[in-house]
Amino acid sequence: MKAFINKVIQGDAIELMRQIPDNSVDMTFADPPFNLGKKYNSYYDKKDVDEYIEWCKLWLKEMVRITKPTGSIFVHNIPRWLTYFASYLNEIAYFRHWIAWNAMGAPLGKTLLPNHYGILWYTKQPKGFKFYDIRGMHSRCRKCGIILQDYGGKKNQMHPYGPLISDVWTDIHRIRHKKRRDEHPCQLPVPLLERLILMTTEEEDIVLDPFIGTGTTAVAAKRLGRKYIAIDIDTKYIEITKKKLESTEPTKINNCYVSIYLGKIITLRDKDWKKIKQAFIIPSDPKEIEKRGIKLKKYPEMPSLFEYYGENDHN
Ligand SMILES: C[S@@+](CC[C@H](N)C(=O)[O-])C[C@H]1O[C@@H](n2cnc3c(N)ncnc32)[C@H](O)[C@@H]1O
Repeated sequence: MKAFINKVIQGDAIELMRQIPDNSVDMTFADPPFNLGKKYNSYYDKKDVDEYIEWCKLWLKEMVRITKPTGSIFVHNIPRWLTYFASYLNEIAYFRHWIAWNAMGAPLGKTLLPNHYGILWYTKQPKGFKFYDIRGMHSRCRKCGIILQDYGGKKNQMHPYGPLISDVWTDIHRIRHKKRRDEHPCQLPVPLLERLILMTTEEEDIVLDPFIGTGTTAVAAKRLGRKYIAIDIDTKYIEITKKKLESTEPTKINNCYVSIYLGKIITLRDKDWKKIKQAFIIPSDPKEIEKRGIKLKKYPEMPSLFEYYGENDHN
């Protein structure tokens, strides 16, 4: 098992997972090829439906086998394939949620425009699995900081940072800008994986992704102080992943791991809020700032939060 920890491994997902012991990984996440004829570097993405589903069942089975009794299994795909996966997973694991991730898909037919991807969340056991309440940030007016959502007229009673996360995710976007993308047809955003990892694992836990692509899951795991096992069949994607990991650093505020993207905290654990907010409560009097030795430059990437949490904002 040691040979796999914090490694980016080139090879076939099923063959490699078969070498991993039962009950040894805390979280498995798979974002397999969607069988939609996408242009991968070295993978043919258009199998017969039956062939594709049978292949998927093989790696799904391995994912469940290697996951610890306290662990979680996640699978990202289009709803069409997830219906097959769910029916198989219902036999060998425990359904928790179908997370709808609001991101524009490609039109598939002449009916409805697909507007979400799904992430199936299963656990190995019905009870005793790891789960932490997580919060996402309110969407606020960029100029005045006011919370934009009405929350049924109860805005004032809401948590100052943001609501507990539901099973519909609209605040994390696909990577559209070319400069933020690697050479990969369907790279996922790191904050998506960070949210799943914060929700179901602890520091030092092991996160495995059998279809790592250009490294999203491994980067998210490293940023959050978790160990990773990253597998892909493509040597080019393996090289990109390794390179990205070299420059990946942990993201912590007041000793708590958080998911940060473009200057905003995207996800935090509810239980960490008290400690995290201390970093943002700054006195209004400049003399007081100096006296207490508060360094505003400590979190230069998050000016927006400094603006939101003043001295009296202690909820
Ligand atoms: C949808 S992409 C994953 C993208 C990834 N989530 C990211 O954010 O970059 C699927 C990946 O599976 C890889 N792949 C296809 N067949 C494989 C196999 N048999 N074993 C391992 N990896 C495979 C492809 O090379 C591709 O990088």
